[in-house]
Amino acid sequence: SSNPKNLGLIYKSLQNTIAWVENKSIATLASDTEAAPPERFWVVITPLKDTAGQAKALVDMRVSLKDIDVLTRKTLSQSLIILSITVFFVLLLLINHFRFFEYAVLFRRLKEVDQMKDDFISIASHELKTPMAAIKGYLSMILEGVVGKIEPKTKEHIEKAFANVKRLDVLVNELLDVSRLEQGRTQFDMQPVDAATVISQVIDELRVKAEEKKLKITYQPLPEPRPKIFVDSDHLAQILDNLIGNAIKYTFKGGIQIFHQVDQENLKIIIKDTGIGMSPEDRQHLFEKFYRIKNEKTMDIPGTGLGLWITRELVRRMNGKIYVDSMENVGSQFTIVFPIIKEKE
Ligand SMILES: Nc1ncnc2c1ncn2[C@@H]1O[C@H](COP(=O)(O)OP(=O)(O)OP(=O)(O)O)[C@@H](O)[C@H]1O
Ligand SMILES: [Mg+2]
Repeated sequence: SSNPKNLGLIYKSLQNTIAWVENKSIATLASDTEAAPPERFWVVITPLKDTAGQAKALVDMRVSLKDIDVLTRKTLSQSLIILSITVFFVLLLLINHFRFFEYAVLFRRLKEVDQMKDDFISIASHELKTPMAAIKGYLSMILEGVVGKIEPKTKEHIEKAFANVKRLDVLVNELLDVSRLEQGRTQFDMQPVDAATVISQVIDELRVKAEEKKLKITYQPLPEPRPKIFVDSDHLAQILDNLIGNAIKYTFKGGIQIFHQVDQENLKIIIKDTGIGMSPEDRQHLFEKFYRIKNEKTMDIPGTGLGLWITRELVRRMNGKIYVDSMENVGSQFTIVFPIIKEKE
């Protein structure tokens, strides 16, 4: 007969016979397509044996796969979720990767622009130096009366022009120093140096400026024989010129004291003023390029904010250290430290 139900019955008795003759369990996977939803199940036929092991009866069990099917479906959908999360993260990683690539390109470009800026500053500064030297030369010739006697009013104007050219000169020199330091082109001629000699020279050059403001500069050199430090004396002079120059610039009454502290290892040069001082917040940014403290006390004082950056850079490159103590309205104290050259025994 072609009735599938009958076919199932025939099949089942066949299974029974095999289980009986072979004397062992037989399991068959079957499905009930008429059930809604269609159901799958195992049919297990097990012979019941006596003590001698002879089959006496058959047990027919139906084990539904419904729970397993539900579990499979669940597992599958969970796997899908995990898979989509994974794909999502992989995509994110890829996007990040491309963004990183973009940054790398941008970074290269920035470095190029930075180089262009450096080149521009060093070329422009060099080109400015020559005409400025000419202007300075002619102005001082006029002031010295080389071209003849000049009216007091004219003299006043020319003196103003001269002062401004000098300021411009300082700025151009500072820019040149910065660009040389940044590109590692600064030369250092390191020699054993007696700091006292350099300090005295710098003080002599700055004394007029201090006297104009009625400020007293005092210096206590160490007694001889003095310890020597290993530095470039021109750069040491530049450092001291910046620090003592600042002390004069930012002090309005009192004076500037320069003295030493010394131990087995180091020589300290301390520049102490009784000036406007600064707040702890300002002190943090002091050595940054172009940083100037802005308040009513500093408003009328000209400057670029490059002096201390250059100073610190020079000190560091000659193996020294620099630090600052300061209190608002009381004064500031800058200390530079250099290792002492050991005497050969
Ligand atoms: N001795 C000091 N007392 C108080 N403030 C100071 C002192 N030295 C420096 N400063 C502050 O630190 C800032 C930075 O000093 P820096 O020497 O770098 O620049 P500048 O003097 O303004 O200009 P320049 O580049 O011409 O030196 C100054 O603008 C000033 O506000
Ligand atoms: Mg300065």
